[in-house]
Amino acid sequence: MIEASTLNVDAKRVNDYRDAAAAARYGASVTLRMDDLSTVPIDDVLDTVQRRLDRRLALEAGRYSRVNGTAGFPTDAGTWVRLGWRRPGRLDAHAWTGYEASQVLDERIPRPRWIATATWPDPVRDAVWRADEMTLATTPVLSQTAEISDDPQLPTRWWGDLRTALDRLAAHATDRVTLGQAHLTARIQEVYGPLDTTITDWAVAHGDLGYANLCGPDLTILDWESWGRAPVGWDAAGLWMASLPVPHVADRVADTFADVLATRSGQLTRLMLCANVTRAARRTGRDVPRAMRTAADTLLQELDPRRFR
Ligand SMILES: Nc1ncnc2c1ncn2[C@@H]1O[C@H](COP(=O)(O)OP(=O)(O)O)[C@@H](O)[C@H]1O
Ligand SMILES: [Mg+2]
Repeated sequence: MIEASTLNVDAKRVNDYRDAAAAARYGASVTLRMDDLSTVPIDDVLDTVQRRLDRRLALEAGRYSRVNGTAGFPTDAGTWVRLGWRRPGRLDAHAWTGYEASQVLDERIPRPRWIATATWPDPVRDAVWRADEMTLATTPVLSQTAEISDDPQLPTRWWGDLRTALDRLAAHATDRVTLGQAHLTARIQEVYGPLDTTITDWAVAHGDLGYANLCGPDLTILDWESWGRAPVGWDAAGLWMASLPVPHVADRVADTFADVLATRSGQLTRLMLCANVTRAARRTGRDVPRAMRTAADTLLQELDPRRFR
């Protein structure tokens, strides 16, 4: 087998499809970095999407994630196409099929409707592509990132609609899992030590409920990749954390979901998010935001009063 270096290709930094294609022809294995699809040539991929879905993509209006390796485009049929990929060896069946699986959910949950999928292997890029066509959301997302930095000034109706939608979602039954017991326990205990983290109340959650996946002032919930079973309160906890930069919006989330957040499960999911932020802070040397530290202290006191005696 020929080495990538022989082809004047740096295997760690290859981000050019032509280099990868050339390398593949000689049997060399190179890995393309594709976290941000706007930085790599994917013309052939976009051609395949258009051909297989029989739609023209408005390429100039594309949205590219900087980290997820996803992209999205309006189409000439007034629909939306979301493009993503996985390494073939790391295909997680649940996340891979989230959109089509979301068809079973209550129609009244406001979200794009899945229309079609094209999926195919790409041996040169060591990837499997997936393009999901869905209806176009007609109101804009509330933020470009999961968090907000300003008050999105959502009408009271929006909060009521969100609560109703999440209650309808929670009531479904599914074997899909978005957050399991073992992961929650490991994350919490890594940061806060021994603590009873047993979850007794489970419900179906969206699993990625940040402001980049929420539209307003009319509620639409996007990004149904990872929905599935989770501890009760998981979505509310995620939205609460995403709101912390604007404290009165975080309070609004806490009010709207007071009953689910007050359950032991709701407390544990919030504590797990605090643990995640603490882990990330340790890794990067950054500070844990004060609101998060205060929240973690309060949660630990509620969950394990003995600790503070
Ligand atoms: N159905 C849709 N209609 C209009 N815009 C959409 C639609 N789905 C996603 N988008 C836009 O694309 C962005 C990213 O889409 P999303 O499915 O959440 O992918 P990601 O996994 O990258 O978060 C959204 O924040 C939104 O701006
Ligand atoms: Mg998203």
